[in-house]
Amino acid sequence: MRTAITDMLGIERPIIQGGMMWVGRAELAAAVSNAGGLGIVTALTQPTPEDLAKEIRRCRDMTDRPFGVNLTLLPTIKPVPYDEYALAAIEGGVRIIETAGRNPEPFLPLFREHDVKVIHKCTSVRHALKAESIGCDAVSVDGFECAGHPGEDDITNLVLLPAAAAKLKIPMIASGGIGTGGQLAAALMLGAAAVNMGTRFVATREAPVHDNVKQAMVDADERQTTLIFRSLRNTARVFRNAVACEVVDIESRPGDTDFADLQPLVAGVRGREQVLEKGDIDGGIWTAGQVIGLINDIPSCAQLLDRMVMEAEGLIRDWSEKLGSPAGVERPLRACAE
Ligand SMILES: Cc1cc2nc3c(=O)[nH]c(=O)nc-3n(C[C@H](O)[C@H](O)[C@H](O)COP(=O)(O)O)c2cc1C
Repeated sequence: MRTAITDMLGIERPIIQGGMMWVGRAELAAAVSNAGGLGIVTALTQPTPEDLAKEIRRCRDMTDRPFGVNLTLLPTIKPVPYDEYALAAIEGGVRIIETAGRNPEPFLPLFREHDVKVIHKCTSVRHALKAESIGCDAVSVDGFECAGHPGEDDITNLVLLPAAAAKLKIPMIASGGIGTGGQLAAALMLGAAAVNMGTRFVATREAPVHDNVKQAMVDADERQTTLIFRSLRNTARVFRNAVACEVVDIESRPGDTDFADLQPLVAGVRGREQVLEKGDIDGGIWTAGQVIGLINDIPSCAQLLDRMVMEAEGLIRDWSEKLGSPAGVERPLRACAE
């Protein structure tokens, strides 16, 4: 499955594991890269740039294939030393950086100087075009289905991807709602050169989260996410548990939402400790996308990538044969067995 993205990043398969706070650690990134995709270590999961340097070394001990670093640029109460995180990635030999959150323009000269490929994650056509205009090498386009921050436009990938592909010249990566080979094939047909997945990778053997979280994803259907922070215009798609429902209730009260009312419920440390580490599904907020409705098992990353590629190739081949045969479409379209 060679595409503009596999060639650009030096990987075998057009499947990327997007940056994930608390989840994007070395063991997951290495597993994805060893399976032929691109694993990404999440910079801000590490408390300091020195810790990121150590995590990169740990990842390199587990894989000799390319992997990337996610740098999520967000306004924070306590200033984050983004420059130092970026330098730690570069000095650690990382040559692929996924940026997200804010315009990455201030970092581009540094990245250029070190031959870093920059993938910027965006949630709209206009932001994708902006990323292209400032010199990013590729964009990851996150549809409304995605886990985390889908933006405020609410456009799902069936429309967003072809709308972006029609205008972009740089390669596009489809992100949000993807977890199967059929969706990989569909994303390629919609103009993407690879897919980026978050939620699907949380429910893999190598993801460093409690088994209860993985099982909750298997048990959930596609309706089990909700949107918080809508009232603050900083929408986030998260698993619909007791805490998320409480947040939505507070936000739906008349008048402006005071973030101080939400703070104790949404604190990142609560989600990390109670949910991801201790396995209490209702213990805090945790990020998940609608693709949980398509997650039925907890494979290794290698098994997941193998079957996605096999299924996508099988579907594309089936259709090519059908359309090529004079008798027209004869066989029903069938995804290969899970
Ligand atoms: C647990 C979790 C944490 C995430 N944290 C981040 C993050 O820190 N920075 C970021 O850019 N994206 C983050 N994301 C978004 C993913 O990188 C990716 O864009 C998104 O998950 C794609 O949608 P999907 O989950 O439907 O595959 C996170 C996603 C998940 C599931």
